[in-house]
Amino acid sequence: MRYPILVANWKMNKTAAETDSFISQLKKSVKKPQATVVICPPFTALQAAHAGLKGTPFFLGAQDVYVLPKGPFTGEISIPMLRELGVKFVIAGHSERRKSFKESDNDINLKVKAACEHGLKPILCIGESWDDRKEGKTNEVVEKQLSAGIESLDEREARKILIAYEPVWAIGTGNNAQPGQAQDVHATIRKALEGAFSKETAKGIPLLYGGSVNPSNIGSYLKEKDIDGALVGGASLDPGEFASVIQNSRMKADARQ
Ligand code: PGA
Repeated sequence: MRYPILVANWKMNKTAAETDSFISQLKKSVKKPQATVVICPPFTALQAAHAGLKGTPFFLGAQDVYVLPKGPFTGEISIPMLRELGVKFVIAGHSERRKSFKESDNDINLKVKAACEHGLKPILCIGESWDDRKEGKTNEVVEKQLSAGIESLDEREARKILIAYEPVWAIGTGNNAQPGQAQDVHATIRKALEGAFSKETAKGIPLLYGGSVNPSNIGSYLKEKDIDGALVGGASLDPGEFASVIQNSRMKADARQ
C-alpha cells in the first residue's frame, strides 16, 4: 500500500503563535497518520512549525524559494536557510505566484532544479485557467507547463519531484474538479512523464490534485488511479478540518489497494 501524500498550503495565513496552536491541536488529534503529511507555513512561521513538529511524523515544506544560496537578493529566502529549519519540500510555481508575481516557466524550472540539486523535494504546480478549459486547451497548457518545469532534469533529479495538478478555476472557489476530470489530466501528465523519463521513474512520481479539496471529497480523488495525494489550501487552515482530510484519506487509500 502506498500512503497518499497530503500537502497543506497555508498561503499567507498564520503567525508563529497561530502555527504553534495549530500544531499542538493537530498532534493531539492525529497521532499516526496513514499518509505522508507535509505542512507549508509562511516563512515567518517555519521556526515555530519546526519546533512543534519535532518527534512527529509530519514533514515541513516551504511555499517558495530562491535559487541561489546567498547574496544581494533583498527579500528572498535560500535553500540552505530552509534546510536549517528542517524543511524537506518546497512548492514551486503555484498559480498565485505565476499570476500575481509574474513567475515564468523558466523561473519555476530554475527553482525545481535548484531544489533537486540541493536537497529539497520540489512540488511543481501546473494547471489550466477556466478560459483554457473552455477552449479545449487543458492538456496543451498543462503539458507545456510540465515540460518547461521539468526541463533538463535527469532521472536522478526526477525521482525527487512531485507534481500538483491544480486547475486555476478550482482553487479557493469551492468549485472542485470532478475526480474523473482530474484523473484524465493526471493520466496525461503521467504519459508526458513517461515520455521524459523512464517508465519506472514516471510511475514513481507522486501526482497530487489541488483545488477545493476538503474532508468530504478527498476520498473520491484518492480512488483514482493516477491521483497519489492532494495539495490542500483552505481546508488545511483549521486543525480539525485538516485532521479529517487526513483521516478520510486513510480510509480511501485502503480501498484503493
Ligand atoms: P484550495 O487551495 O484548497 O483553497 O482550493 C489549493 C491551493 O491553492 O493549493
